[in-house]
Amino acid sequence: MEHAGFTIWFTGLSGAGKSTIARLVEKELRQRGMKVEVLDGDVVRTHLSKGLGFSKEDRDTNIRRIGWVCEVLSRNGVVAIGAAISPYRAIRDEIRARIPNFIEVYVQAPIDVLAERDVKGLYKKALAGEIANFTGVSDPYEPPLNPEVVCYSDGRETPEESAAKVVAKLEEMGLVPLPSAVPG
Ligand SMILES: Nc1ncnc2c1ncn2[C@@H]1O[C@H](COP(=O)(O)OP(=O)(O)O)[C@@H](O)[C@H]1O
Ligand SMILES: [Mg+2]
Repeated sequence: MEHAGFTIWFTGLSGAGKSTIARLVEKELRQRGMKVEVLDGDVVRTHLSKGLGFSKEDRDTNIRRIGWVCEVLSRNGVVAIGAAISPYRAIRDEIRARIPNFIEVYVQAPIDVLAERDVKGLYKKALAGEIANFTGVSDPYEPPLNPEVVCYSDGRETPEESAAKVVAKLEEMGLVPLPSAVPG
């Protein structure tokens, strides 16, 4: 099926749920016959951004690279999904300005919930002062001011409910066909 490309951009602290929700949205859109590509921050850092660290400059470079790939995919009819912390508002807005349909999803959970969950075991270390430049602990995070969607992953929503909110927004924007409109 031919469809317009667009970019779904997940932003939020480490462990907030960006990758989890991104993969669920990917699965749902594929089931609706769409071409989808996820650019996950942790994965991108193993190739496209290999060698970059966590200084402001390196973070900005990493996010601009992901944004550029999303832009290229989007203008070729692919649904690009970016899932990286992307802590700086100005860089996210720079990418938004370049992509006609840019849907920003803020995955929100407070630090104490994330530290408790500690999916990657990083918060304990960061809070103990063992990791420099750890977003939300020893490095800034600038939340979006006007995200298209906010997902509350602090226990108020399950990952499935969060993903459904994103898909509902895409339907409302006319970017994704309703399930009943898909043949077969
Ligand atoms: N509503 C929710 N959305 C996403 N993840 C959630 C939600 N509620 C709980 N979680 C849990 O939070 C963790 C998020 O981890 P992950 O997706 O790797 O985060 P990130 O990619 O933002 O670093 C997972 O263990 C997931 O099961
Ligand atoms: Mg992730």
